[in-house]
Amino acid sequence: MKIGIYDSGIGGLSVLHHAQKVLPNAEFLYYADEKHVPYGEKTREEIKGYVEETLNFLIDQGVDAIVIACNTATSVAKKEFRNTFPVPIVGMEPAVKKAVRMQEDENKRIFVTATPITIYGEKLDHLIAQVDAHHKVDKFPLPMLVRFAERCNFDSPEIDEYLRTELKDFDLTQYEYVVLGCTHFNYFKEHFKTVFGEDIHFADGNEGTIRQLMRVLPQEAYERQDSPGVTYFYSGRPINEYEENQIQRYLEQLNKMYEIY
Ligand code: DGL
Repeated sequence: MKIGIYDSGIGGLSVLHHAQKVLPNAEFLYYADEKHVPYGEKTREEIKGYVEETLNFLIDQGVDAIVIACNTATSVAKKEFRNTFPVPIVGMEPAVKKAVRMQEDENKRIFVTATPITIYGEKLDHLIAQVDAHHKVDKFPLPMLVRFAERCNFDSPEIDEYLRTELKDFDLTQYEYVVLGCTHFNYFKEHFKTVFGEDIHFADGNEGTIRQLMRVLPQEAYERQDSPGVTYFYSGRPINEYEENQIQRYLEQLNKMYEIY
């Protein structure tokens, strides 16, 4: 089977990683829209255009299904494009439901962070209203994290400084869970721990998204013989050697982050 995985940039690599574990024999096409990242700071109309272009590109490559490994693109465009393409399309949303379910300390709260488009979108409000019966969920955008990640900047003191400044009005000791509602934020678990405290837990949508992919994959997809592995595209062109090395650096950083829950 051939699966397209699409993000505005390199955030969706964590979704790809999970998909490869679950479907080790699949062929993956990973599409990073490097020309237009960050989506979280674009208009909704612009994002819809990028999504349409990318979905068409991946369909032309003969994929059996597409995962939009981007909460921002899903928040804007998923509903719109749900029934207009010939293959199943799976979107991604902040794992608020999972965090509410996993919460152990009922006196603590849940902090949802994502891009501004996702945080202020109707879709998230609707989701929170559905699952947050006890009004335990707060939400806040942290768009600079996307820029840090795209620059392969995971270690500089700027990151903690940014988080501390942005979050200064919150009592961070009251949280049990941080919901990483943007796939780019998976790279920064250590920094979240530094500001929220060592005991903080994380919830991301990777597992739920790939579970949904398995549900919608057509039977024929399982019968196809493709060559397992990943081909990477940056906005519709194959990546070069330099970019491939950079992807390796992202994967190394993610490997460290997978150890942190
Ligand atoms: N990685 C994307 C998400 O999950 C968005 C990052 C961006 O391009 O702003 O929302």
